[in-house]
Amino acid sequence: MPKQIYLDYAATTPTDPEVLKTMMPYFKKEFGNPSSLHRFGQIALVAIDEARRKVAKFLNCQEDEIVFTGSATEANNLAIFGVTKALKKKGIKPHIITSKIEHHAVLHPFEESEKQGIEVSFIAPNKEGIIKLESVKKAIKENTVFVSLMYANNEIGTIQPIEEIGQFLAKINKERKQRIYFHTDAVQAINYLDCNIKELGVDLLTLSAHKIYGPKGVGALFIKKGTPIKPIIYGGGHEFGLRSGTENVAGIVGLGKAIELGEKYKNDIERIKKLRDKIIEKVLKIPNTRLNGLKEKRLPNNVNISISGVEGESLMIALDQQGIAVSTGSACSSRELKPSHVLLAIGLSPKEAHGSLRITLGRFTTEEEVDYFLKVLPNVVKRLREISPF
Ligand SMILES: Cc1ncc(COP(=O)(O)O)c(C=O)c1O
Repeated sequence: MPKQIYLDYAATTPTDPEVLKTMMPYFKKEFGNPSSLHRFGQIALVAIDEARRKVAKFLNCQEDEIVFTGSATEANNLAIFGVTKALKKKGIKPHIITSKIEHHAVLHPFEESEKQGIEVSFIAPNKEGIIKLESVKKAIKENTVFVSLMYANNEIGTIQPIEEIGQFLAKINKERKQRIYFHTDAVQAINYLDCNIKELGVDLLTLSAHKIYGPKGVGALFIKKGTPIKPIIYGGGHEFGLRSGTENVAGIVGLGKAIELGEKYKNDIERIKKLRDKIIEKVLKIPNTRLNGLKEKRLPNNVNISISGVEGESLMIALDQQGIAVSTGSACSSRELKPSHVLLAIGLSPKEAHGSLRITLGRFTTEEEVDYFLKVLPNVVKRLREISPF
């Protein structure tokens, strides 16, 4: 198979041609600054409003509950630091909770908060990569004010019981003196799971354009009306005073279009899931392999396997030489040689975690590509096992 095969959709997705087409005018003729009062500015402002409407419709929230940011990382930072800062100003000494399997865009702000003297708890998942409601209940203290849990994991694809946890928090909030605000990083979930914020019961939700066939460098944060939050970036007061900086008009337009297209491609999810299951079934036939994360509660496009006796890095490079792009650990941190914190958290040894491979599918993945990958993989594993020092 001569062409390159991309099986790393959790790292990023190609920009959909329809998205790109919608963005193009805002690089050219419609280049205005949305803060300008003349026609050029107003055209750009209308385009941003339209994108905000699309995102709000998708999440089932109001338009002024959406803040556009420069990435999901920034949206997560705004949620975590912004809410705790607002509560501290009210004289509250906050305790905040997250899980051990979050993306670094949540984990590192939590670690930083801890350094700044905030009380922090990191909940462990079970061996199948699920954060159980019971663990959340156990972690809650009298001064707990904020819980941040991802909707779907970017490495092992496990889907967390956000709705169940949201309902529980709503129930206890009625009796608590101090309300607990609930944030979810839904970056990997947007194209695959129900993201109606009313059903999920979240106060804040993060999303990113480049994981849903939109451009890189654009994210958004849903902030429920009434949630105490302060900006972390100061300047001209854009985005309701919560994210200063001239808006990335083309990027925001692209995010709006990508969200809209996601609805159009809903019927494609079943096809992707079937390809995923084919990969899981065939790969597990290779001796000494295991699937990481629960199969039943897993994103339709995610396969994460450990292959004993081989290094994930070597496997990834060998597959790349055959024209196949996959990932080992999290793509965002794959330059680090540390074993994945997610795999360690679900109980894998560092050696097992090093031998892991993440295959993620998407809109443009074909059965022919999957078959080619399944033909190449066993031979690559065999060759690497023969020369492996393990
Ligand atoms: C779950 C999750 N959260 C946050 C991010 C960061 O997104 P962005 O690249 O838009 O900052 C990623 C990217 O890998 C992710 O998978």
